[in-house]
Amino acid sequence: MIGRREGALMRNNSSHSQWKSKVVTAVAIGVLIGCIFAFLFPNGFFYSVPTSTSSNRHLSLAGSKTQENPAECESSDRLNMLKSELVAVSDKNAELKKQVKELTERLRFAEQGKDQAQKQFLALGKQQKAGPFGTVKGLRTNPTVVPDESVNPRLVKLLEKIAVRQELIVALANRNVKEMLEVWFTNIKRVNITNYLVVALDDEIEQFCQSNQVPVYKRDPDAAVDNIGKTGGNHKVSGLKFRILREFLQLGYGVLLSDVDIVYLQNPFDHLYRDSDVESMSDGHDNRTAYGFNDVFDEPAMGWARYAHTMRIWVYNSGFFYIRPTIPSIELLDRVATRLSKEDAWDQAVFNEELFFPSHPGYEGLHAAKRTMDMYMFMNSKVLFKTVRNDEKLNKLKPVIVHVNYHPDKLPRMKAVVEFYVNGKQDALKAFPEGSNW
Ligand SMILES: *[C@@H]1O[C@H](CO)[C@@H](O)[C@H](O)[C@H]1NC(C)=O
Ligand SMILES: *[C@@H]1O[C@H](CO)[C@@H](O)[C@H](O)[C@H]1NC(C)=O
Repeated sequence: MIGRREGALMRNNSSHSQWKSKVVTAVAIGVLIGCIFAFLFPNGFFYSVPTSTSSNRHLSLAGSKTQENPAECESSDRLNMLKSELVAVSDKNAELKKQVKELTERLRFAEQGKDQAQKQFLALGKQQKAGPFGTVKGLRTNPTVVPDESVNPRLVKLLEKIAVRQELIVALANRNVKEMLEVWFTNIKRVNITNYLVVALDDEIEQFCQSNQVPVYKRDPDAAVDNIGKTGGNHKVSGLKFRILREFLQLGYGVLLSDVDIVYLQNPFDHLYRDSDVESMSDGHDNRTAYGFNDVFDEPAMGWARYAHTMRIWVYNSGFFYIRPTIPSIELLDRVATRLSKEDAWDQAVFNEELFFPSHPGYEGLHAAKRTMDMYMFMNSKVLFKTVRNDEKLNKLKPVIVHVNYHPDKLPRMKAVVEFYVNGKQDALKAFPEGSNW
C-alpha cells in the first residue's frame, strides 16, 4: 500500500515534470526561432531581403550562398511570396511567444502556490456579499473528498461492512498492548459500538482479534513501513499511524482514531459535532488549559509596555481525535507523517505544531478547522485523578471515554475506571496517586 501511495506521488511528480519539460521545450522553441530570425534578419523581417551589403555579409556568414546572388531574388513574385511566408512565420512566432509568456506566468504562480489558491477559490463557488452585522460566519466545515476506492479495494470491502454512516473507530495495536486492547474492545462491545476496527500490526494481534470477534484488518505485507509496527518503539508506530489513517480518509471515511489505553463508557459518535476537520480531546485539565487562554507575560524592564499577551492552549491529544475526510485533514496527516519520517520527534508535538502554527515567512501553515472536545466527556486521566474523582458533582457525570494518557500504570487504572463507572464501585479510584511515582 505504501508502495502504491509512493507510486501515486511519483506519478504526480512525473506529470509535474512533464508539464515543466513542456514549458521548457516551448521556451526553447521560442528562443530558437527568435535567434534564427535575429540572425537571418538583423534589421527586421521586411528589411532583410538581401539587398544591402551588411545583410549579405551576415548571410554569407550563415553559410548560405544561394541568396547571395541578388539576381535570383529580384523577381517580385518570389519576393512577395517570401514576405508573406515571413508574415506567417512571425505571426506564429508571436503566438508562440504569447504561449511561452502564459506558461511562464503559470509556472511563477504555481511556484508561489497561487495557482492552488485560485483553484480552491473556484472550487468554493461564487463570491458573495458579506451580509448584515453579526450574521457572517466563515467556512469551517470543509467539503469531504470524493472517495477513491482504487486506493485499497480490500479495505473498502471491510469498511462497507463495518462503518456506520461512513464513520468508524480505528486503533493500531501490536502484541505489546494486548492486555489493554482486551479492556479496550470489551468496553466498546459493552456500549454496543459496532463500527470499530483494529489495525493489527502483527499476527498475534490479528489472531487475538479474530478469536474474540473483533473486527480486524492486517495490511498487505508489502510495505517496508510495516516492519516499524512489529519492532518499532511508540514514536515510530505513531508515525505509521498517520500514514495508515490517510487511506481511510482517501476512501471517504471519517475516523475516530483511538489509542488502546482508553475506556469507552458511551458511544462517542453520539457526541461529536462534525463541524471541523479535526475534533480532538485535550491534554488540558481545566477550562483555560483545555480551551485556550491569554497568558500575560510580564517584563518589568519594558516599563509602560511590560505586559505582553500570549495565546496558549494545552496540546490536542493525538491518541484520540475525530478526523473528517477532507483535504485539510489529509494534508495534516501527510505533513505529520513526512516530518516524523525525517525527525526524531514526538508525534503529538508535531501534530499540534502543524495544526496550530500560522503561516509566516518561510513557512506555510495548515488551514484546518479544529474543535476541542469537552474535557469532562472525553476525559484524560489527569482530569479524572486530579479533579473529577474528588468533586461530588463531577464524579456523578458519566464521561464518553476516559483516556489513561497521563499515567504509566495504564492497565490497573483502566480496570479501576471500569469498576468505578460501570460497576459503580465508589472507591475504585481512591488507591491511585494523583500523578505517577516515576
Ligand atoms: C446493548 O445492547 C444490548 C442488547 O441489545 C442491550 O441489552 C443493552 O442495554 C445495550 N447497551 C447499551 C449501553 O446500549
Ligand atoms: C468552565 O466553563 C464552563 C462552560 O463555560 C462553565 O460552566 C464552568 O463554570 C467553568 N468552570 C470553571 C471552574 O470556571
